[in-house]
Amino acid sequence: MASAAETAPPPLIPLAAQVNSGQGTFTLPAGAVIAVPAGDAQARFAAAQLADQVRRVRGLDLMVRKARQGAAITLALQADAPVAQAEGYTLEVTPSGAHVTARDEAGLYYGAMSLAQLLTPEGAPGADQGPVTIPAQEIRDWPRFSWRGMMLDVARHFQPLDSVKALIDQMAAHKLNRLHLHLTDDQGWRLEIKHYPELTKIGAWRTPPSVVSGPGVVSGPYGGFYTQDQIRDLVAYAAARHVTIVPEIDMPGHGQAVMASYPKIGVTGARPAVAVDWGVNPYLFNVDEASFTFIQTVLDEVMALFPSTYIHVGGDEALKDEWKGSPKVQARMRALGLKDENALQTWFIERVGQYLAAHGRRMIGWDEILEGGIPPTATIMSWRGTKGAVDAARMNHDVILSPAPTLYLDSLQSRRNDEPSGRLAIVTLADIYAYDALPAELDAEQARHVLGGQGNLWTEYMMTPWHVTHAIYPRIDALAEGLWSPKDRRDWRDFLGRLPAQLARYRHLGVDAADSAFAVDFTVEGGPNAALAAGAATVALSNQASFGTIRYTTDGSAPTPASARYEAPLHLTLPAILNAAVFSDAGQMLAAPRRYDLTADALRTRQSGELSACPEGEMGLRIPLTPDATTRAPVFNVNLFDACWVYPKARLNGVTALTVQAARLPRNYGLAHDAVKVRSHPAATPNGELVVRMDGCDGPVAATVPLPSPAKAPAQFPLTTPLPVTTGEHDLCLTYTASIHGPLYAIGSVSLQAEP
Ligand code: ACM
Repeated sequence: MASAAETAPPPLIPLAAQVNSGQGTFTLPAGAVIAVPAGDAQARFAAAQLADQVRRVRGLDLMVRKARQGAAITLALQADAPVAQAEGYTLEVTPSGAHVTARDEAGLYYGAMSLAQLLTPEGAPGADQGPVTIPAQEIRDWPRFSWRGMMLDVARHFQPLDSVKALIDQMAAHKLNRLHLHLTDDQGWRLEIKHYPELTKIGAWRTPPSVVSGPGVVSGPYGGFYTQDQIRDLVAYAAARHVTIVPEIDMPGHGQAVMASYPKIGVTGARPAVAVDWGVNPYLFNVDEASFTFIQTVLDEVMALFPSTYIHVGGDEALKDEWKGSPKVQARMRALGLKDENALQTWFIERVGQYLAAHGRRMIGWDEILEGGIPPTATIMSWRGTKGAVDAARMNHDVILSPAPTLYLDSLQSRRNDEPSGRLAIVTLADIYAYDALPAELDAEQARHVLGGQGNLWTEYMMTPWHVTHAIYPRIDALAEGLWSPKDRRDWRDFLGRLPAQLARYRHLGVDAADSAFAVDFTVEGGPNAALAAGAATVALSNQASFGTIRYTTDGSAPTPASARYEAPLHLTLPAILNAAVFSDAGQMLAAPRRYDLTADALRTRQSGELSACPEGEMGLRIPLTPDATTRAPVFNVNLFDACWVYPKARLNGVTALTVQAARLPRNYGLAHDAVKVRSHPAATPNGELVVRMDGCDGPVAATVPLPSPAKAPAQFPLTTPLPVTTGEHDLCLTYTASIHGPLYAIGSVSLQAEP
C-alpha cells in the first residue's frame, strides 16, 4: 500500500502540468552532489540556486559538480527532452536520484526550482530539517501563459534594491518571469537618465505631507533613485533567474516629477513641485517636438539599460484638461486632423510606439490608450476590469490581464482589524486563486492574444519593505498557480494543502508573509449586544480559508498543538480571554495566535474597520497615520468623499458617554474632477467639530465636540462626550465638520462608556 507521502500531491507551487507516481522513494543525504554539464554556466547557476534553497530551508548542504559519477541529482539541457514547450522541463525522481532535463535554460531553471520544493516538503518545525525522503515520480511541466508577471511601483515609495532582488528571487522560485517596474510617476522619477540629470536631482525627491513631526516621521525630502550601474546589475540579476524587467515610463499623464525637473516638457511650462498628492494630478506632457525629443532621448537610455522587448509607456489616467486648455495643443490637434484629445493621446502613444518599433521593441500601454482608437503598435495591459483586454484581443492585439481590484495587491487581504493600510477592496488569497487570466468571452483565435497576467503592487500605502512583503506573500502563490498551471489542474483545497510547506519555506528564508487567510476570526453569535445583555457569549472561531485545526486557550496562554481543539462554538461568561491559532495536521502553526477579549468594554468598542461608511459602500481606503517609516503605523478606514461613519446598532442601555479615538491625517489626494464629490459638513467653530447623531445621519444631534487646534494637538487624540441617557439599539452617525480643505480627520475606534 502506498504511504501517505506517496499519494499526497507533490509540494509544488505552482502545481505541475503532469505528475506520474513511480515505484519507491529517493533519499537525499547531506553532502549529495548535483551534477551539471561542463561549460553550461546557466545550468550551474540553476544548480547553485537549488542547493542554496535546500540549504537555507532544510539545512542540507549539497555540492555542485561537473562529474555525473555518483551524482544524486543531475541537471542537463537535452535537445530531445520529452517536454517540447518553451520553459518546460522533465523532472524524474527514481530511488537512485533526481534528474532534470529541458530544451531551454529557463526550463532547466524551473525544473531545479521544482526539485527544490520537492526536497523541502515539510512545514512542521523539527520535521523540516535534515536528510529528506521523497516519492519516486515523473513530472512533466510547462507554463500555461508566457507572461507571468508582477508589477512593483517604485515611484510612490522608493523600494530599496535589495527588496527588489528579494522579489526577483521569489518570482523565480514561483516561475514568474516578468517584473514590471513602474519607474516614474507624479510623486517620483526613479531612474538615472544621463542626458537629463535633473530628473533624479529634482524629480526623485519630494516633501512628504505632514500634520505632525516626531519620532518615525519622515520630514525631510523623501525619495531615491536607481543609478544606471545599479539597473545594469539588477537586470543581470533578474536575467540569471529568467526574469525580464519591463520598465515603465508613464506618459502623457502621471508626469509631474518630469515637469518639476524640466518644466518645458509640460504643457504650461510652469514648474510644479514633485507631487505630494496621490491620485490623479493634472500635469501632462506637451505634444510638441521638444517633448518627443525628450521622450526619445529618455527611451534611448531606457532601451540601452533594459533588453526587454516590451517597454511600457503608461497612458493611464491622463486627465485631458491641460490639452483642452492650451491653444497650441489645440492647434496641433487640428493640424493633425484629430477629432479630440483621446485621439491625440492615441496619436501621441503611437508615435512613441513607432519609435520603439524602429528600435526592435514593442510598446505596452494601460487600457486607457484604447479610448481614442487603438494605437496600431500597442499591446494592452488591462487594469480597469477586463474589457480593454477583450476589446484589444478582438482587434488582434496582444493583451495582458491585471484587473483591479482582483490583481491589485495593494487591496486588503481580509476585514480583520489587524490588516495594515491599503485599498479597501478585499482581495483574499482565494479570490486571487479563483482568478483566470483568460477572459471567457474570447474564442480560441482571440485567446491566443492573451499573453498572460500580472499582479500589480502600487505603493501609495506601502511605506516599508515589510509592508510590500506582507502584500505580496502568500498571494503570489495563488497568482503563480493561476498563470503557470493548467486550468483543469487547479483546485483550491489542494492548493491549501500544499501551502503549509511554502509558509515554512518563507519562514526559513525570512519572508514575513501575511497570515490573513489563516488568522483566527472570532464571531459572537447574535452579535455583541446579545452578549452584553446576557453577560455571557457564544463565540464561533473560524479562519478565512476554513483550513486546518483551530486550537485555543482561555487562560491567557499562547495556544500550542496540545491546546484544546475547537469543535463547536464556545459558551463563555464575561469577562473572558480567548487565544487561538490554526494548525496544520502536522502541528505547524499557520498564523500567529490571535487574542479576543470578551469584556463589556471590548464589546462596546468598534475599531475603524468595524464602522460603516455613510453613504454605505463608499469606504475607499485604509490609510496610515502619517507618512512615517514604521512597520505598523496605526491605520484608519476613510471615505475620501465624506467624513461620515456609522456605529451600527449601538446598545445604549446604561451608556453615559462616548469616546472616539480621533486622528488627523494629511489630506494629500488628487481627486481631479471627483473633487466636487467631497461632501462638506458645515462647522460651527474654527477647527470644526465631531458631531454625533442618533438613529442615523438624519437623526437628532446627540453630542457635538469641538476639535482641538491642529497646531496644538498631537495627530491622535481622544474626544469624549456625554450621551443622553436612553435604552435600546441605535445607529450612531459620526461626522466631522472640519474644512474639507484642511486635514483629513479619521476615526481609530469608538467606545461607549457605561455606568458600572
Ligand atoms: C493604474 O492603476 N492607474 C494603472
